[in-house]
Amino acid sequence: MKKITKICCIGAGYVGGPTMAVIAKNCPEIRVTVVDMNKQRIADWNDPDLDKLPIYEPGLKEVVSEARGRNLYFSTDVDKSIDEAEMIFISVNTPTKTYGKGKGMAADLKYIELCARQIARVSKTDKIVVEKSTLPVRTAETLRAILDQTGTGVKFQILSNPEFLAEGTAVTDLQNADRVLVGGEQSPEGFEAMNALSDIYAHWLPRDRILQTNVWSSELSKLTANAFLAQRISSINSLSALCEATGANVEEVSRAIGADSRIGSKFLKTSVGFGGSCFQKDLLNLVYICQTLGLQEVADYWEQVIIMNDFQKRRFADKIITTLFNTVSGKKIAFLGWAFKKDTNDSRETPAMYVADQLMNDLAVIAVYDPKVKPEQMFSDLNYLNSRSQSENSELLKPFNDPYEACKDVHAIAVLTEWDEFKEYDWVRIYNNMMKPAFVFDGRNILDKQMLEKIGFHYHGIGR
Ligand code: NAD
Ligand code: UGA
Repeated sequence: MKKITKICCIGAGYVGGPTMAVIAKNCPEIRVTVVDMNKQRIADWNDPDLDKLPIYEPGLKEVVSEARGRNLYFSTDVDKSIDEAEMIFISVNTPTKTYGKGKGMAADLKYIELCARQIARVSKTDKIVVEKSTLPVRTAETLRAILDQTGTGVKFQILSNPEFLAEGTAVTDLQNADRVLVGGEQSPEGFEAMNALSDIYAHWLPRDRILQTNVWSSELSKLTANAFLAQRISSINSLSALCEATGANVEEVSRAIGADSRIGSKFLKTSVGFGGSCFQKDLLNLVYICQTLGLQEVADYWEQVIIMNDFQKRRFADKIITTLFNTVSGKKIAFLGWAFKKDTNDSRETPAMYVADQLMNDLAVIAVYDPKVKPEQMFSDLNYLNSRSQSENSELLKPFNDPYEACKDVHAIAVLTEWDEFKEYDWVRIYNNMMKPAFVFDGRNILDKQMLEKIGFHYHGIGR
């Protein structure tokens, strides 16, 4: 079998960038080129100042600095890179559709289709095309339909190789993946392509962690994995409401059930709700697929995970309003954190924007501090929600680059992201500069309740 020497990855985002950097680091003999139509993104990946990489991920700078220029390249010349590569990863975005059939539910596959058409147009030699993006089950059929129509005699093998990394831990997740899924056609050519991709991962992962399946199982396993993970969060969050109503403590419940090895302790951390670009998108997509196949009960079952997540975000904002004497109009509330989780600069679908939006509807002024999310991103998130004009958003949202300044003269502080640094703050200093009574709403249960209450704060966590 021919060895892979040149890889092209279309899409230099949160998946394409880190994934290819780790492949390049572990396979110095393979030339890996990551391409994107976004010129600024590619310029940022090529910036000599590694602090300017477009994505913040612990450990990413080090991997990029080792491989970039050696066998890792970032480019906007998509055609050239496709032409040269033996293996092409498609790692473009697959957001929820915002128009037409399936609006608000189905995954928008227009970027995927554009990639397939470009690969079909440019390729002069046989290629292995790898679906790295998260796709609805049977998308490979669409790719095949496009790639088989080139009339050039070029042969394509299509593989599904979904990515399971989580943001904030992408580099370690990639380097120590629990498993890698490689789905392919059940034919000699299909197995040859699957083995070629498996060999790449085998540079650093044990063979028994590389699972080969048929394409449809691989595509569906990705949606299923995200649905199960999100379901655990909604399950524990639903219980957090019950805990608040009964005097039970959700942290204790979580620990108690997580100690059962059949349940396991991971992904039972209660929160203001899950965010991120994928859980909601992939659940909606799963619900849509079930609906279109006439499986309404299955669709309803998974939709409930999203309904519960929306309830949790609303519940948190409601709690702030009712506790602040039923009005936040004209009151200033500090948000610690805007990213959808710690250790990332990503704020897609962050619970913070929904909670801010709800409080701003009640005319609160939100003072935000986040260690990595830029102010322009915060405004763009709010403008995307489209609840009020851009000028009203700028009146009501005030980003700060110093947490102590953000918390000055506020009526309450809400913790929206679990950044470690929040635990290290001088909370006495914060208390002294706040309006009294001083409230803390800990949407991540990360702060020391006893310590804060001793200082004089009124502390409200989630589910305790
Ligand atoms: P992203 O938006 O960060 O990156 C996608 C990139 O693709 C963008 O930079 C965009 O400019 C580029 N692009 C789109 N169409 C293109 C084209 N035709 N030619 C060249 N470039 C093009 O998205 P992401 O977060 O990296 O997600 C990519 C896929 O991976 C999605 O399907 C997502 O569901 C999946 N996924 C994401 C994560 C995650 O943690 N973000 C994890 C696992 C899987
Ligand atoms: C998630 C999955 O964990 C990855 O395996 C998957 O590859 C990825 O989606 C994807 O397909 O995009 P990610 O969204 O980056 O990764 O981050 P998670 O750690 O899963 O967190 C998602 C959200 O759930 C965050 O808002 C986080 O704060 C929240 N969360 C997570 C909880 O509220 N409680 C938990 O116990 C865990």
